[in-house]
Amino acid sequence: MSNRIAVVPGSFDPPTLGHLDVIRRAASLYDELHVLVVHNPGKEAMLPISDRMNLLEQSIKEDGMPGNIIVGSWSVGLLVDYARDVNAGVLVKGIRSQVDVAYETPMAIVNRHLAEIETVFLLPDPAHALVSSSLVRQVAGLGGDVSPFVPRSVAAFLDTGARGI
Ligand code: PNS
Repeated sequence: MSNRIAVVPGSFDPPTLGHLDVIRRAASLYDELHVLVVHNPGKEAMLPISDRMNLLEQSIKEDGMPGNIIVGSWSVGLLVDYARDVNAGVLVKGIRSQVDVAYETPMAIVNRHLAEIETVFLLPDPAHALVSSSLVRQVAGLGGDVSPFVPRSVAAFLDTGARGI
C-alpha cells in the first residue's frame, strides 16, 4: 500500500468547515486523497450518504482545492478494505481536542492491526476547534443559522429544508 495515497474517512453528516480544513491540509500532503463518507452504525444519520457526497464535492470545488481529491462512500465492511482497494497506506483524521484523541486512538490501533495502515492526525485551525457535525445538526434542526460553521453549499442546502427534519 502506498504512503502517497491517503483516505480521510468520516460520517460528514453534514460536512463542516473543520472537515474542509483537514481535507485541504491532507490534499497538500498526499498525491491522491480519498474523502470517504462512511456509514457509522453507531450514529443515526441526518442526511443520506448521497447528499453528504454531493455536499462534499460542491464544498471542495467551491474552496478551489487541488484536483487530487476523490469523494467516495463505504457502507459495508471494514474501512481498511476500502483502503486496500485503492492502495492507500494512510488514514488521516482531524484532532480538535483530547476527547478526539481518546476516540480516535483505539480505532487507529485496530486499523493498524487489521491492515498495517498508519493513521496520521492533523490539527485543524483553532477557529474550527469547537465545530462538530452533531452541534450543526442540532442547531439546524432547531432552526438556527449554521452558516458560520459549514461551507456555503452546506448552509444553503440545510437552509432550504431539503434535509427533511
Ligand atoms: O465521523 P465519524 O462518525 O467519527 O467517523 C467514524 C468512522 C466512520 C471513520 C469509523 O466509525 C469507521 O472507521 N467505520 C468503519 C468500520 C470499521 O472499519 N471499523 C473497525 C475499525 S475502527
